[in-house]
Amino acid sequence: MTLAIDKDVSQANSPEPKRSKKIGVPKEIANGERRVAATPATVKKLQKLGFEVIIEHDAGIAASFSDQAYRDAGCDIVYTATDLWEQADVVLKVQPPQDHPNGLHEADMLGAHQSLISFIWPAQNQPLVDRLSSRQATVLAMDAIPRISRAQKMDALSSMANIAGYRAVIEAANQFGRFFTGQITAAGKVPPAKVLVIGAGVAGLAAIGAAKSLGAVVRAFDTRPVVKEQVESLGAEFLELTFEEDGTGSGGYAKTMSPEFIAAEMELFAEQAKDVDIIITTALIPGKRAPLLITKETAESMKPGSVIVDMAAEQGGNCAVTKPNEVYVNNGVTIVGITDFPSRMASQASQLYGTNLCHLLSDMGGSEDYKIDFEDEAVRGALITHAGEVTWPAPRPEKPPAPPTPVKATPVAEAIIAPEENATSSSAVRAIGIVVLACGVVAIGLTAPASFLSHFTVFILACFVGWQVIWNVSPSLHTPLMSVTNAISGIIILGGLLQLNGSTVTGGLSTTTILGAIAILVGTINISGGFLVTQRMLKMFRK
Ligand code: NAI
Repeated sequence: MTLAIDKDVSQANSPEPKRSKKIGVPKEIANGERRVAATPATVKKLQKLGFEVIIEHDAGIAASFSDQAYRDAGCDIVYTATDLWEQADVVLKVQPPQDHPNGLHEADMLGAHQSLISFIWPAQNQPLVDRLSSRQATVLAMDAIPRISRAQKMDALSSMANIAGYRAVIEAANQFGRFFTGQITAAGKVPPAKVLVIGAGVAGLAAIGAAKSLGAVVRAFDTRPVVKEQVESLGAEFLELTFEEDGTGSGGYAKTMSPEFIAAEMELFAEQAKDVDIIITTALIPGKRAPLLITKETAESMKPGSVIVDMAAEQGGNCAVTKPNEVYVNNGVTIVGITDFPSRMASQASQLYGTNLCHLLSDMGGSEDYKIDFEDEAVRGALITHAGEVTWPAPRPEKPPAPPTPVKATPVAEAIIAPEENATSSSAVRAIGIVVLACGVVAIGLTAPASFLSHFTVFILACFVGWQVIWNVSPSLHTPLMSVTNAISGIIILGGLLQLNGSTVTGGLSTTTILGAIAILVGTINISGGFLVTQRMLKMFRK
């Protein structure tokens, strides 16, 4: 059920005695989950937003944060989950609510006046969403924060995918029996490992960066051609298909490709599999089953000792032989189906996730002005249940208004709109200018003395030749400007040399000689100084 949008802020916004809101951070109970929703560092940020923070005993221990570290950060430690859920105004969690070992479901510990912020995965968890809405509580899903620029700092999916991409490479390196980087040693030459990354979204780009920094040769493929530049800027090769289809969908995500495209890319991967040592697959379209891109035959065609890390294992896998949550060897190739990469870097992941939460709570007004603002795109996108209603999915934003109908052009606009008319009038001005100039030259020729005329002719010719020489220099130096200024300096030096030569013939040190020497000196300083400065600037961009 979808709630009709209430334009006013919620009742949580109604005036009430101002006291610090209490944030509660329970211990995660999901099997194998090591992350925690707040670290001692993020607790300090929450306190700066005006919140009081309570944390369940040993909530951070699996992520290497002791109770004492939280106490030092100014938290109160609470010893039972029921106490924590009862006391908190806002509960911050990582995993969706589930059955607690104390016999209660976490959703049932949430009261009408409370808020819960955690991963919820509403599309896959409809019964949980209904259960939460029946509690009349306010629930925000970190996995439903829209991927818009303003909400980037709250985008927990991206921060977790970044960690997961990095960790996928580390797990691959752990399974791979060779160096990533190439080496030439006394004992022999070692070629670099070749890594293929399929899907260059957040996780894929992180994997490319990590594999590249370990020294591997990295190739990548994605259905969205826009990522080519990002892939290449990380030093990897972007593989392309001779197939005209753009996979760019809406909201920064991909769209489903045609069966013909999928067949063509599978052929590419079958070919690459015989050459590369490691394949990391991250291809996914949100809300859909992961596309099957590596067949059993392709996986088995890899060299013995190769590794496939299937990051989409949880969504059905990109590889036909992946077993979710398992690492096993199939025909000599290790298949990694790990689904908890961020939890394997629990300390780092908790820090980033906790920071995402701080940004969201700051966006919601901090403790003093805490509110559910339906007008806030990030909050509205993440809002799952509120006041007993299911508020997910958020209504699609209205279409942008149609472009205004062209108004009658003003004189300036007319000049812009009618380039042809404009060009005609400017060429007429130019023709008049040439005629005036020609008349002026004829007038000078008729009236000026002969000595002036010879100097004037040389001057006009020098202007013409100089202009041609300078502007026809091809800009093959660092910048076009440098090419032009060097051409000018070159002409100055040439002029100076001619003056010096003239003085040597006549003998003696005249003003002309001194000026010629100064011209040569200044021109040389300009050319060599330009090169030196450019060299220093280029050095700043080199590692
Ligand atoms: P994303 O949406 O940013 O990137 C997915 C990329 O796959 C997009 O660039 C898209 O264009 C590309 N893609 C889609 N269809 C494709 C196809 N047919 N061929 C080639 N590329 C295709 O997603 P994100 O955040 O990078 O996550 C990637 C995967 O990693 C997802 O499956 C996600 O669930 C998984 N993940 C796994 C974790 C774990 O612990 N195992 C943790 C975090 C993410």
